[in-house]
Amino acid sequence: MIKWHIEKSPNEVAVKAAMIYRQQIMDKPQSVLGFATGSTPELFYRELIMLYQDRQLSFKECKSFNLDEYCGLNPSHRQSYHYYMEEKLFKHVDFDDGHIYLPHGNVDDYHRECKRYDALLIEHGPIDIQLLGIGRNGHIGFNEPNDVLIPSTHVVHLDDKTIKDNARFFSCEDLVPKSAITMGLKTIQQSNKILLLATGPEKAEILKALRSEKISTQLPASFLHLHADVTIICDESAAKHF
Ligand code: GLP
Repeated sequence: MIKWHIEKSPNEVAVKAAMIYRQQIMDKPQSVLGFATGSTPELFYRELIMLYQDRQLSFKECKSFNLDEYCGLNPSHRQSYHYYMEEKLFKHVDFDDGHIYLPHGNVDDYHRECKRYDALLIEHGPIDIQLLGIGRNGHIGFNEPNDVLIPSTHVVHLDDKTIKDNARFFSCEDLVPKSAITMGLKTIQQSNKILLLATGPEKAEILKALRSEKISTQLPASFLHLHADVTIICDESAAKHF
């Protein structure tokens, strides 16, 4: 059963989520933390940084794994997820650089990169708590709606809707990469706990569909219904159709 929490504002969503991560790290300082990108978790990362600065948590012994990365972007590219994580979280806190893992988007051999990432996840995993956002089309990570879904790390062709949604981060839509490397649903499902955050009225339709408890490859997030420990925290505007 997914546990749903509705908070008044995106800020309250972020505070609640940060408290869950804090508790996880207090219970297990060597936690393997799963992180996500996009606009939604930005406030959450700000909260984590504040807790760190207040000495309420330390990432020294933690490891981190990210869900995905655009194909073709160098880590120094301002729209890469490497850059995002560095700017939004890593450079502000005390993670050991050797404990930070993201898939690389700037490789010659994507098949090999997917295998490398899966091997790291097996070596260091399972992830203790995985943060997720949700695309307006129901994607998690970059697992896009499709007739079939691929369980392990793979390269995915991005949905037109995703390209349009993410164009706001680029100077024009043509510059949005057409493909990405993403953890598959199996790896996401193998996380001990999953925490999905959704804010804003543009997520209301997809959350309503997710509430219906039907599972479909056309709504990749619906596979979360099969997991034993999923919490979704959303704000009132994202929950307006409940
Ligand atoms: C991106 C990421 C997802 C994220 C989603 C929603 O494309 N790959 O991990 O959850 O889209 O992003 P946002 O929070 O900006 O709506």
